[in-house]
Amino acid sequence: MAILSWLIVLSLLFLYLWKNQRPKGFPPGPWGLPLIGNLLQFSKKDPLKVLDQLAQKYGPIFSLNIGGTLAVFTHGFPSVKEVLVTKGTEFAGRPDNPIVDDIVKKKGIVTASYSQTWKEQRRLSLMFLRNFGLGKKSVEEKILQEASYLIEAIAENSDSPFDPHPFLKTAVINIMSSILFGKHFENDSSFNTALDLIHQSIEIMMGPWAMLYNAVPLVRRLPLPHQRMARNAHKVLAFLEKEVEEHKRTLIPGESQNFIDAYLEEIKKAERKASSFEEEQLLILLVDLLSAGSQTMIATLWWALLYLVAFPEVQEKCQKEIDAILGSNSNLQCEDREKLPYTNAVIHEIQRCTTVGPLGVPHASIQNAKLCGYQIPKGTAIFTNLHSVHHDESQWKFPHEFNPSNFLNAKGEFVKPEAFLPFSAGPRVCLGENLARMELFLFLTTILRNFRLSWPDKSQAPDLTPKFGPTQFPSSFKISMKDRQESD
Ligand code: HEM
Repeated sequence: MAILSWLIVLSLLFLYLWKNQRPKGFPPGPWGLPLIGNLLQFSKKDPLKVLDQLAQKYGPIFSLNIGGTLAVFTHGFPSVKEVLVTKGTEFAGRPDNPIVDDIVKKKGIVTASYSQTWKEQRRLSLMFLRNFGLGKKSVEEKILQEASYLIEAIAENSDSPFDPHPFLKTAVINIMSSILFGKHFENDSSFNTALDLIHQSIEIMMGPWAMLYNAVPLVRRLPLPHQRMARNAHKVLAFLEKEVEEHKRTLIPGESQNFIDAYLEEIKKAERKASSFEEEQLLILLVDLLSAGSQTMIATLWWALLYLVAFPEVQEKCQKEIDAILGSNSNLQCEDREKLPYTNAVIHEIQRCTTVGPLGVPHASIQNAKLCGYQIPKGTAIFTNLHSVHHDESQWKFPHEFNPSNFLNAKGEFVKPEAFLPFSAGPRVCLGENLARMELFLFLTTILRNFRLSWPDKSQAPDLTPKFGPTQFPSSFKISMKDRQESD
């Protein structure tokens, strides 16, 4: 009996050492605990600081054991650029993630492998995103219309300090839903439930139960909390299926009014020639676009309002520039970005300081590859620390302070340093970058034109500390937003 116990202990020890062993030429890193590896590092209050410390100790490329799997972390601009751009294609894969792959089956875009199918889905989605506003309206007109609803809603609530989050959420979601579905879902509880379930699933995906599911295949069928992810997916897909069926009934060939219509037409064409367009792809694409395009946008706008109240002199300078260039009557358009270098610099600086997706989306090597002298086996997960790029002392004039001069030259003209990467870069660069940039500029400029934003709680300053997660949000806050014409 005693011998058997010893054998078990020795086998476990062997398994642990084997799992922890880094292949020859692999980036260095700390030892991890059995099963969970280095996960405890991420349970600390400030995981991004932990990554800074690890980079100081091991260099800009190091590795960590995440729930039994070794992953590579790249830190600072040169190594992140190597992964995203210089060797962009070699590292354009996505790592296996069984809990997600079992549901999504590598379809859609965000978690799809680097493949012809991913290229086809991405190319067409980009085209559809550009083309569909609401009905005959362009995407720009649609955002402006949504911005005017936002202003009305804020004005109705501006008597006392309020939390702006629900208003920003409605505006962002309305744009996504009108592009994808061709309609607003205001007060539609099933749409809101579907969105909540998607975001809940992202939380589960990052949590300990997902790690267990991925590391220990034996537990996958057990009735443990990770089963919630499959149940959520089932409900979300059922909701989307119903929507797609409705679009099939109303679709007039040649007159697509939204993303779903256009994709359904593409499926019809695909039946004639071999291609990857089919209904399950469409459902996963909708989940991808709703998840990737909502939280990041809402978080950025929410941060922007907080920074504008935390730095009132910056807010005032934007308003002076906007008033001088646009006056009070002219209609705002995206092209005005070029005429408003300071306001444009402020929006970029907010994105740099907050880096809402601090570690981007993990990449993977599509073949055995070399990274700055290290050997990276095919399929290894690679994290690109975009937060570290945005604070890289070799790249920024003021890496550790909020200062719009990071994006202005001596003549006050707007310049965008190469190390500005909130949307990442290379073959996997954010698909919604253009849409997001339009939304940020049009929403924020409209808000600045209409309201004076201030911090009502004089007893404490705005808290600019982010809550770490796949998307970084600020803690909830209330602000005052007063009509500028009344308050001037
Ligand atoms: C401020 C807003 C946004 C930020 C900061 C942001 C950031 C990012 C980042 C960092 C990535 C990872 C890229 C990589 O793998 O290296 C990404 C991917 C992606 N984003 Fe965004 N995003 C934003 C808005 C949007 C919007 C509005 C949409 C949709 C309309 C969208 C759709 C996507 C998709 C589909 C991908 C996956 C691309 C692929 O795997 O090929 N994003 N985004």
